[in-house]
Amino acid sequence: MENFVFHNPTKLVFGKGMVEKIGEYLKKDGIKKVLLLYGSGSIKKNGVYEKVLRSLIENGIEKVEVSGIRPNPVLSKVHEAISVAREHHVEAILAVGGGSVVDSAKAVAAGFYYEGDIWDAFIGKYNVKKALPLYVILTMSATGTEMNGNGVVTNDKTQEKFYFSSKHVYPVVSIVDPTTQYSLPANQVVYGAIDAISHVMEYYFDVARSDLIDRIDEGIIKTLIETTEIILKEPEDYEARANFCLATTLALNGLTGLGTTGGDWSSHELEHAISALNPEVAHGAGLAVVFPAWMVYVKNKISDKLVSFGKNILGMNGEVSPEEVIRNLKSWYKKIGAPITLKELGFEKSDIDKLTAIANKHAPFGTVIEVKEEDIKKIYEIAYE
Ligand code: NZQ
Ligand code: ZN
Repeated sequence: MENFVFHNPTKLVFGKGMVEKIGEYLKKDGIKKVLLLYGSGSIKKNGVYEKVLRSLIENGIEKVEVSGIRPNPVLSKVHEAISVAREHHVEAILAVGGGSVVDSAKAVAAGFYYEGDIWDAFIGKYNVKKALPLYVILTMSATGTEMNGNGVVTNDKTQEKFYFSSKHVYPVVSIVDPTTQYSLPANQVVYGAIDAISHVMEYYFDVARSDLIDRIDEGIIKTLIETTEIILKEPEDYEARANFCLATTLALNGLTGLGTTGGDWSSHELEHAISALNPEVAHGAGLAVVFPAWMVYVKNKISDKLVSFGKNILGMNGEVSPEEVIRNLKSWYKKIGAPITLKELGFEKSDIDKLTAIANKHAPFGTVIEVKEEDIKKIYEIAYE
């Protein structure tokens, strides 16, 4: 186990009926005016918007709105929201939505105080020094953004999908009410599950490990597999939703990274190029394609861990081969309706060079192996069909 420091300042407020508490939390913190940020309308259809508004009014909190944050969010929208936040002198950001809304909110919160272009934080030219306080109502569990300091945004001019991290953008309060997710389409549940499973796997295959964290990892992934199957049949099974939601938060709030060297993250780099080139591709769908391909490429380096994965998570018995484990993981992805090849995502073979060029902007990456340009290309080739 590697040495570590663990500090997560986010207050996680979890459970039925918690959305209505948002106004009280803001009031307690002395906030009188917020920028309310949301996506393309799901919160109006499922009643979350109305609950938020009522709670803000009851607690005397003013709001200005920016809506229309799209999945795989873009920098130009972040710029627009920063201008609105400045013009109206808001004191905090309230993000209501999935990872795309929350990640945009983090960039807005940090960009509010920065005179340059906040993209500088994504390319390592600016180390965030200050941010507006961020409050979150999460309506889609997947990314873990509700309890971490990362934000992922695509620069719509350059097609670069990069992330930034800062201790200043951890949400102050994150409300997760599993009932708000009953309205999620089945494919988003599937992509959310695969994203969270992938977060745990990025750490599980890290070179440094601890038995305790391995067991926590295995518990989180098993829970995600079991609850996904229940939710797909019974979208309003509260216990399954609640366990699913908590598992996704724990997958990327720092817990699963304890004692590691920081995780591998190659599959995430490879995926971000996919959803940067085609923003219609959900992050979880891209991961379903690329993570197993990375496993195939590095299987000799992680063979023991793959066998543990097969036995302790997938319930495989007897002589278990790493190849079989990868096949079984892919079969489960297929069973729940996820794509498992680049071809299924609509890419042509000729796109591999474009994907390689985009991913290569961040290369080399990874800890299991150092992934360079030639490796990137080979992994995409494995992922193709
Ligand atoms: O825009 P609306 O109308 O809200 O619809 C959204 C969107 O179309 C819909 N949705 C959300 N909650 C809903 C709902 N529909 C019905 N009922 C609800 N309760 O779901 C769609 C997808 O939303 P999005 O926010 O894009 O999904 P997700 O939470 O998976 O976020 C994905 C983004 O997060 C990044 C990804 O790369 C991607 O850009 N990531 C962020 C990370 C982080 N900050 O730590 C880590 C991840 O690895 C990831 O890279
Ligand atoms: Zn992810």
